[in-house]
Amino acid sequence: MRRKLAAGNWKMNGTAAALAELETLTAKGAPENAQVLICPPSTLISRAKDVAGDIISIGGQDCHANQSGAHTGDVSAEMLKDAGATHVILGHSERREDHNERDEDVRIKAKTAWDAGLVTVICVGESLSEREADNTLDIIGGQLAGSIPDGATGENLVVAYEPIWAIGTGKVPTLSQIGDVHDFMRARLERRFGEGVGRTVPLLYGGSVKPGNAPEIFAVSNVDGALVGGASLKASDFGAIIAALDAS
Ligand code: PGA
Repeated sequence: MRRKLAAGNWKMNGTAAALAELETLTAKGAPENAQVLICPPSTLISRAKDVAGDIISIGGQDCHANQSGAHTGDVSAEMLKDAGATHVILGHSERREDHNERDEDVRIKAKTAWDAGLVTVICVGESLSEREADNTLDIIGGQLAGSIPDGATGENLVVAYEPIWAIGTGKVPTLSQIGDVHDFMRARLERRFGEGVGRTVPLLYGGSVKPGNAPEIFAVSNVDGALVGGASLKASDFGAIIAALDAS
């Protein structure tokens, strides 16, 4: 059975006051059938871990390709791990856009993260023009091939499909569009890493997931959870998404 994962990406949001939301979520206890992950800004990781204990996992939103060195302002995978993180998001479209990250950068970072013992949540997704030109599967195939290092397992890798045009916009692909991409990703992972591994990598959908649309998205084949931005900032919204995944 594949792990189901509800992952919250707080992006550049949250000071100490935001930990109250995490406290509320933690107080609900761990869901029976799903794992919960919150990726706060790195300034909050250590305090978030203290609040979340063993109920909710904590992750980073990016890491450097090296474990240490002269890289002012950057955070390494070892540092995230040391602060209490178990996961790190890599290759989010906002990193790809804001910091010019290419597939190759993501792949190198992922290797470093695995060396530090972190689970990588590797993001892929097409732009609106790529979708309209009917290039979605080509783009996703290329990103999967380029961003995931050799050596992936069902334990060290999670893949998140996040159409860029659906992030923070309230727009969501149709369920059949989500299903097509997730089935394609599953087939690609099985082909590259073998059926045993490919079948066990959790595949998340991300992009405007809300309590209202979560149940139908979680019913789509090969959707094992969600990567949630805006709706992960409020415990009431994210709690409802977690409950929908737990019940799916
Ligand atoms: P959103 O963000 O849920 O606010 O659309 C998703 C993401 O970027 O991970």
